[in-house]
Amino acid sequence: MSYYRLLGCDKEPFSTSPDPNFFYLSKDHDSALTNILIELRLKRGLTVILGDIGTGKTTLSRKLVHELRQREDFIFYMLLNPQFETEQDFLQTLFHHFGIETSKDVTQMRRAEMMNAIERFLLQKAVSEGKTLTLIMDEMQKVSESTLEVLRVFLNFETNEFKLLQVVLLGQLELVPKIRKMPNFYDRISFKYVLNPFDLDDTRKMIQYRLQKAGYNSHRSLFNDEAVEEIHRYTMGYPRRITMACHKALKQLIIRKKERVDAEIVRELIRMDNQAMWNEAETLQQQLI
Ligand SMILES: Nc1ncnc2c1ncn2[C@@H]1O[C@H](COP(=O)(O)OP(=O)(O)OP(=O)(O)O)[C@@H](O)[C@H]1O
Ligand SMILES: [Mg+2]
Repeated sequence: MSYYRLLGCDKEPFSTSPDPNFFYLSKDHDSALTNILIELRLKRGLTVILGDIGTGKTTLSRKLVHELRQREDFIFYMLLNPQFETEQDFLQTLFHHFGIETSKDVTQMRRAEMMNAIERFLLQKAVSEGKTLTLIMDEMQKVSESTLEVLRVFLNFETNEFKLLQVVLLGQLELVPKIRKMPNFYDRISFKYVLNPFDLDDTRKMIQYRLQKAGYNSHRSLFNDEAVEEIHRYTMGYPRRITMACHKALKQLIIRKKERVDAEIVRELIRMDNQAMWNEAETLQQQLI
C-alpha cells in the first residue's frame, strides 16, 4: 500500500513534479500570475519572471498554461528548454509549433525569409483573427545571446497599439546579467518580477493546500504548528525544499507509527539530512586523496 493511503490521502501530497493541480497561490505567485495575465491582455510584449532555484517558476508556468488553455483567443507555445545551437534551430522550432505554413521547405529558408514569414503569420493571427500569440520560455538562464537577439527582433513586430507576439520568460537569477548586457532587450521588458521564498504563513497554507488536494480531509492537520515552523526555518521557505521535507516527514510519521508530524520528527529529519551531507563530503574527500 502506498504510504500516503495510510495517511488518508488518495494521491501523493508532496511529489516534486510541477503539477498545476497542486499549485498553491502564494502571495508572490498570485501577484506574478495576475500581472502576467494583465500584461498578456494588454499585449505589452515582454514579461520576465525571475527566481532562485526551486522557488516555483516552472510550476507557475504550468499554471499559466492551464489558465491560457481555457481561453479561446490565445495561441500559445511553451518552450521548456531555450538552448538552441543556432538561430535557425530556434526559428524552425517556432515554425513547427505555431504551425506556420510556407511554400518553401523551412530548412532551406534564410533567416530574413523566416523572420518575414513569422511576421506575416503574427499579423494574420493577431490583427485579422484577433488572437493573442504567446511564447512562454522556461530555464532562461541557459539561453544564448543569439536566441535573445531573435526575441528582441520579435518584440519589434507591432502595430500602433500592441505587440504582435507576447513573450513570457522565466529563469534563475543568472539571467539578469545576460539581459543586462543587451540594453535594447532589457529596455523592452514591460513587467519583471522576482519570486521570493514563502513566508511562514504561505508555508503553512501551502502544506495544508497540498494535503487537501491529495484527498486528506480530516480537520486535524497532519503537521502541528511547531513542525511547520521547523520546516519553514530549515527550508528557508523554498517551495521545493518544503515539498521534500514534508514528504520525508510523512514517511517518518508512518515509520514511527505516530499520528502527527511534530518538531521532533522534523529535527530528526534535519539531523539525517545533515548526516547524509557529511557522508557525501567524506566520500568526496576520500576520492580526492
Ligand atoms: N506555488 C506552489 N504551490 C505548491 N507547490 C509548489 C509551488 N511552487 C513550487 N512548488 C513545489 O516546489 C517544486 C519546485 O518548483 P519548480 O520546479 O516550479 O521550481 P523552479 O523555480 O522552476 O526551480 P528551478 O530553478 O530548479 O527550475 C515543485 O515541484 C512543486 O512541488
Ligand atoms: Mg524550473
